[in-house]
Amino acid sequence: MAVIIKLQVLLQRGVLMLARRGVLKGLMGSAMLMPGALGTAKLDAAWPLPRSANLFSDGAALRYGSAVRASDLGEGSQLARLVQANCDLITPEIDMKWDVLQPSPNGWNFAPADNIVDFAQRHGLSVRGHTLLWEQSTPRWLIDRIDARPDWSLIESFFRTVIGRYDHHVCEWDVVNEPIDTEHGHRGIRRNVFQRAFGNHYISRSLREARRLAPHARLVINDYSLEYQNPVDQARRRAFLMLLERLIVEGVPLDVVGIQAHLDLSKGDIAARELTGFLQEIGAMGLEATITELDVKEAIFSEPIPLRDRRVADHVRHFLDVVLAEPAVRGVVTWGLSDKDSWLADDFGKGQGAPLNRGLPFDSAMQPKPAHWEIHRALLAHKVREA
Ligand code: G3I
Repeated sequence: MAVIIKLQVLLQRGVLMLARRGVLKGLMGSAMLMPGALGTAKLDAAWPLPRSANLFSDGAALRYGSAVRASDLGEGSQLARLVQANCDLITPEIDMKWDVLQPSPNGWNFAPADNIVDFAQRHGLSVRGHTLLWEQSTPRWLIDRIDARPDWSLIESFFRTVIGRYDHHVCEWDVVNEPIDTEHGHRGIRRNVFQRAFGNHYISRSLREARRLAPHARLVINDYSLEYQNPVDQARRRAFLMLLERLIVEGVPLDVVGIQAHLDLSKGDIAARELTGFLQEIGAMGLEATITELDVKEAIFSEPIPLRDRRVADHVRHFLDVVLAEPAVRGVVTWGLSDKDSWLADDFGKGQGAPLNRGLPFDSAMQPKPAHWEIHRALLAHKVREA
C-alpha cells in the first residue's frame, strides 16, 4: 500500500511541478515577486539600528519577516521602524483571524487587518495571510451554527470576503492552521469544528476553495510540534507527511508547508536528522516550506540574562542551520520581534515588572540580542551559498 501511494505521489509530483511552473511564471510577472520588490524599506539614519539588518532583504531568495499586531504598528513607532529595517514580509499575528474580522454574523471589523496591509504596501513588504481556518480563532457564533447544521456556504462566503479583500497583497495564505492531532484525532486529523461538520475532507475542500479565489497566492497548511525527538513530535511529522501525500495524490492545490517552530529549551536538542528527513520529503513532493512562527520558550528566570540569551541564540542557530540547509525552505518568520510583544509574555509577563520570556530577536527595549545576530548570520550564509 505504502509503495502504491509513493508511486502515485511521484506521478502527481510531475503534474504538480508543471502546474506550479505555470503559476510561477505568472507570479514572476507581478510586482510581488520581482527581485528587489521585497524589503526595499530604508533605514532611518537617526535610528540606532544595525544597518546590516538590511542584508536580510534585497530580493533574497529566502525571505525574512515577523508577526505583527496592528495595535503596535503605528507609523513611526519603534516596532514599525524595526519591521521596516529588518523584514521582507509580515504576518498579522491576530488581526486577520475570523474571530477578529467577524465577531458577529453581521459585524465586520476590517480596520486592524486593513492597517497592517496598508503598512505593508507603503513599505514594500509582503503579507502572509494568517489564518483562514483555525478552530481557536473561530467565532463562537460560527461554531454554534456549524455544529447545528454543517453549512459549507459559511466558509465559502468568509473565504470570498477575506481573500477578495486582501489577496492583492497576500503572497501566502495559511488556509488551514493546526489540523494535525495524533493523540485524539481521526486518522491523525484534529477533531475540530470543521472536521466534525465536513469530515477530514474539509482540508482539501478549503484548499480548493482558496485556490479558486486566490489563483496566484501560495497556499499553506501550517502546524506546530514538528522539531524535536519526542514521540509526539515524531508521530506528528509522520501524520503530516501522510496528509500531504494524500492531498497530492488527490491533486489538491497546495504549495507550502508551514512549520511554526515554537521552540522550547525544555524539549532538548533539535531532532536534526529527523527534521532534515521531514523537509526532504516535503521537497520531494514538490512542496516548499516556510518557518512561520519562530520563537523560543525559555524563562529560567533564576539564571543571568546573558546566559539565557546565549542559550536561546544557540538553539535558534542550531535550528536554522538544520532547516536552511534544505532547499525546500524559502522563508523564516519570527513570532514577533521584541520580547515585550511576544505571546509568551501573556504566560510569563503578567503584572508590571514581571520577568519576560526572552525568546525573540530583540529585547523589550528593542535592542538586538544574540538570537538576532544568529538569524542574521544564518540568512546571510544562506544568501552567500545561493549566490
Ligand atoms: O487585546 C486584548 C486586550 O485588550 C485584553 O485586555 C486581553 C485580555 O486577555 O486580551 C487581548 O487580546 C488577546 C491577544 O492575543 C493580544 O494579547 C486575545 O485575547 C488573545 O486571544 C490573543 O492571542 C493570540 C492567539 O494566537 C489567538 O489569536 C496570540 O497573541 C497569538 O500569538 C496566537 O498566535 C498563535 C497562532 O495564530 C497559531 N499558532 C500558535 C500561536 C500561539 O498561540
